Amino acid sequence: MYILGIETSCDDTAAAVIEAKGGFIKPSFSVLSNVSYSQVAIHKKFGGIVPNLASRAHLQKIVPTVKTALSRLNLNSKFIDLIAVTRGPGLMPSLLVGVNFARALSYKWQKPIIGVNHIEGHIYSNWLNKKSDGILFPALILIVSGGHTELILMKSHGQYKIIGETLDDAAGECFDKTARILGLGYPGGPAISATAEIAVSSSSYLASGIKNRKIQDTKYKIQLPRPMINSNDYNFSFSGLKTAVLYLYNDLIKKYPISKIRPALAYEIQNAIVEVLVSKTLKAVKKFQPKTVMIAGGVAANKKLREELALKIAPRKITFLAPDFSYTTDNAAMIAAAGYFSYLKKSAGWRTNLDSWKKIEADANLRL
Ligand code: KG4
Ligand code: ZN
Repeated sequence: MYILGIETSCDDTAAAVIEAKGGFIKPSFSVLSNVSYSQVAIHKKFGGIVPNLASRAHLQKIVPTVKTALSRLNLNSKFIDLIAVTRGPGLMPSLLVGVNFARALSYKWQKPIIGVNHIEGHIYSNWLNKKSDGILFPALILIVSGGHTELILMKSHGQYKIIGETLDDAAGECFDKTARILGLGYPGGPAISATAEIAVSSSSYLASGIKNRKIQDTKYKIQLPRPMINSNDYNFSFSGLKTAVLYLYNDLIKKYPISKIRPALAYEIQNAIVEVLVSKTLKAVKKFQPKTVMIAGGVAANKKLREELALKIAPRKITFLAPDFSYTTDNAAMIAAAGYFSYLKKSAGWRTNLDSWKKIEADANLRL
């Protein structure tokens, strides 16, 4: 079947058409078009997302984005079997644009519509991976994005248990806020990561052995905390790390030029965040014995995180999967894929009752 996905929960206006088949037993997906308009240029100067500006940009871009997703395939509404739209969690002014546009399409085209949880969408970004037939349940998923940091145990399709989450800032938020302190702009994750690479090639770093794959900053001796790394649960906390970076930065900037300390700080920030994420994921692996571990969300694009997790999980003979880079940040293909599994659960009556658009509502705080 052909599914049109629509995503406007945050700062990307996205639409995609996928072909889905195989049902629960042998699901497979072809992404036929995947169009996304990023609002980074709009929000950059504010150092974060401004909800009303996001909403206005979604309104301007939703029609051209959906039109492009359809026109790239020479598909018209006749071929679409289902509309899947993100209905939460996210920013209400943003969600409302996608949800109401999708409802209007459903009514006009007389096609069923399904509301998708954005986090569930991120989880299903892994099913767009060519290796997805290796996914076995129970699966453990680390969701790391700008708004969420969660460890989720997935018993089967649609069955989730949140076993840990952040008590304050999300991992991506920590990247974004610390990048702002360092004057690195928005979004912070890719900027911190690229600046950390400069440190790796600098002479003031000393390789400390292949075994622990670490290099040490021998000049500035920057050390940041690893919040909650030893806590007896699967929760996270990143706001203290941001405060520690602020104090350290204010101290160092009195002694050294910013261009010198930036790479060292970025390197240690990335290490601190990644170490906490990897350590908690491994703790959950030991306790819950999943057959598959997956990561998802914008921060899943982080190479260090992918490498460290892959390395630590490999000896356990558990499948480790990360989405293709094009599906880590917000996109509509993952929403369409998640919509397929929700659709499979629906009754024949639901599928033929074309009033589903009446029941879809945005919910900024939607839980899994
Ligand atoms: O999933 P996403 O696109 O939006 C939300 O649902 O929040 O995630 C965006 C987040 C931002 O915080 C951004 O800084 C982070 O993902 N991010 C990264 C990288 N690429 C994006 N963080 C670390 N390393 C990256 N390479
Ligand atoms: Zn997201």
